[in-house]
Amino acid sequence: MQFDTVIHGGTIATADYVTRGDIGIKDGRIAALAETLPGGDRRIDAGGRIVMPGGIEAHAHIAQESSSGVMSADDYLSGSISAAFGGNSSFIPFAAQHRGQSVDEVIATYDARAARSVIDYSYHLIISDPAPEVLEDQLPRAFARGITSFKVFMTYDLMNLGDGGMLDILSVAREHGAITMVHAENNDMVKWMNKRLAAKGLTAPKYHAISRPELAEEEAINRAIQLAKLVDAPLFIVHVSTAGGAEIVRREKFNGAKLFAETCPQYLALTRDDLDRPGMEGAKYICSPPLRDHATQDVLWHHIAQGTFESVSSDHAPYRFDETGKFLNGFDAPYPKISNGMPGIAARLPYLFSEGVAKGRITLEQFVALSSTNAAKTFGCDTKGRIAPGMDADIAIWDPEAQVTVTAADQHDNMDYTPFEGMELTGKPEIVMNRGAVIVENGTLMAQEGQGRFVARQPVDL
Ligand code: URP
Ligand code: ZN
Ligand code: ZN
Repeated sequence: MQFDTVIHGGTIATADYVTRGDIGIKDGRIAALAETLPGGDRRIDAGGRIVMPGGIEAHAHIAQESSSGVMSADDYLSGSISAAFGGNSSFIPFAAQHRGQSVDEVIATYDARAARSVIDYSYHLIISDPAPEVLEDQLPRAFARGITSFKVFMTYDLMNLGDGGMLDILSVAREHGAITMVHAENNDMVKWMNKRLAAKGLTAPKYHAISRPELAEEEAINRAIQLAKLVDAPLFIVHVSTAGGAEIVRREKFNGAKLFAETCPQYLALTRDDLDRPGMEGAKYICSPPLRDHATQDVLWHHIAQGTFESVSSDHAPYRFDETGKFLNGFDAPYPKISNGMPGIAARLPYLFSEGVAKGRITLEQFVALSSTNAAKTFGCDTKGRIAPGMDADIAIWDPEAQVTVTAADQHDNMDYTPFEGMELTGKPEIVMNRGAVIVENGTLMAQEGQGRFVARQPVDL
């Protein structure tokens, strides 16, 4: 066979094994794996490099209005470019239904937005209004076109479904083989804390962490799991930030719950002390759930190594440090009125590789599982996330020795800061491919706007 591309002499890393060999690519797919392969219209010398599945970013807010109406700073062009520079070949951002909107309209809106993407994409559907027509007609239609994950919120007044609404979504998801994702924080606990803090005039960014205590996450994670068990539906807990929450996930999984979970680099790299930086600088670090402490970081790493989490995702929620983003409600806004979220789509994999693999906390196989393979399995991307004949040639070639200092400019997003600024990391993606096309090579974008394709996903396979 004449290959379009042969990746020669690299260390091939999969979620199951690491080996030396060549990869032959033809018509956008992996056509052959062998010790050595001849030919190739292009031969990429991967000596000294690690060749692995391109990352799949399964938690990102791209061209998405938040519940308070703030548009994320990244659209599908800048967001996908940033993802690609961070070693990702595809991503699954959210398509958010706000109250009163039909899911069909929401999907049409996101189809138009996503047409700019340079990498393959799908959407998780956020449901904030589970009206009968949504549950009976619109969600099944979304599912039929390959949108097989629905996300719900237990917090934020305009998104919170309440237990009954969650049960409605969980049971529709179960019926169709979809997976329900949940942002788990107890809304009333947070509101009660907000009221008490406001009454004392404690509204600086650092009080954001105090207003959303560990218990609020732990209670909600536990409740979400029990609700899912009542209707025997699979559940995915997003952005677990607490030791207690991770322990509940571990225990319930061990006892057989149909449960999946992720954590995020910000909960490993940053702490609530970052919210107490001078002036309003702390606003850069406001995200929900909030940053915790060093002891929690150690526990979360332990859970990553032990297999509690399927994925480490970015929760890229980019709001600029200006009046279009963080300070839409003014530069001296109290913390509940500062936009929630931080960017991180480009930093996710370099951070996880450096702090995880290079520092010996996880194996290379675990890195591949956490960055790509598990997301493909959990969310039904059956042609992605693996290096095997027949799979899409979504491949990232990493220099494991490169020394990189993180800067905002190198994130290639539309943001004016990165919370990871100045971190010294080991390892970086040099070449990233999507369906056989090189999209990033040695710091240069090679992709064209709009070359990403929608990925119709399969039902969840427990
Ligand atoms: O603070 C965050 N993570 N903002 C994005 C929306 C969400 O809660 O996932
Ligand atoms: Zn969330
Ligand atoms: Zn999020």
